[in-house]
Amino acid sequence: MPITPQELIANLGDLPPLPQVASQVLRVSADPDANAEDLRKVISMDQALTSQILKISNSAMFGMVREVTTLTQAIMTLGFSTIKSVVIASSAKNLYHRGTVGLQERLIWEHALVSAIASRAFAKSLRFPRMEEAFIGGLLHDIGKSVLGVKFPDRYGALLRTVYNENGVCLDLELETFGFDHAMVGEALVSRWNLATSLQAAVRWHHDPMHAEDVHRELAAIVALANHLALEEKVGIGDPHHLEDATLQAMGILQLSPEALGGIKEGVKSAIEQDKTMIAEF
Ligand SMILES: [Fe+2]
Ligand SMILES: [Fe+2]
Repeated sequence: MPITPQELIANLGDLPPLPQVASQVLRVSADPDANAEDLRKVISMDQALTSQILKISNSAMFGMVREVTTLTQAIMTLGFSTIKSVVIASSAKNLYHRGTVGLQERLIWEHALVSAIASRAFAKSLRFPRMEEAFIGGLLHDIGKSVLGVKFPDRYGALLRTVYNENGVCLDLELETFGFDHAMVGEALVSRWNLATSLQAAVRWHHDPMHAEDVHRELAAIVALANHLALEEKVGIGDPHHLEDATLQAMGILQLSPEALGGIKEGVKSAIEQDKTMIAEF
């Protein structure tokens, strides 16, 4: 029987906090009275984040006509919600890189970014209105793997090697080894970070979107499709065949025929191709 979230937290101990600048950015961008100047003040306290935002604003992904040279310009052109994605991406990246699972870190991070780009592209084609939320859902869906890598470097490193070398099923091995899986751990982290409940659900149910609460099911389904596509594109660790059931569930939720899905996937693949420069920027 899977353990309760309380037992999970007790087993995991303290979870890595969301960096302070990131939580301030989230607070400011959620405040209807806040303006670009408030956001600029918060972000500019973090030099690394500032230069990352400028780099991203100028990457092909956003198709800027003029070069973006100041933070204020970046905020005005990208908008609050994209800035929020970039800030969460930057915090996630630090966590993805903290796990001491060696070579696999890079693969897990690239998988996160490609899944994020794919989620946003799926959301766009499916006319799902909250595209940035889809991006963040894709980005964070496997963040539980990083937490496990940080907390149990030896055991989790060995587990990932089994997945990689022997085509093991990640979730099953995690449940056997720890009594919980990366989706549960990811949910605990996303709730610790006080991100939206829709994101908690997308992270928790990306392997099983049917189990998400009604209101969050479409987002979970989009993230599930993006996760599968990223592995089909050979970005990440794991066999895409293990995700076929998640995709079937997602197709049911989004009412997609195999033909419709096939068509949309072609568009999503070109979005990934186009946005690939962002991977280098990060
Ligand atoms: Fe996963
Ligand atoms: Fe994944």
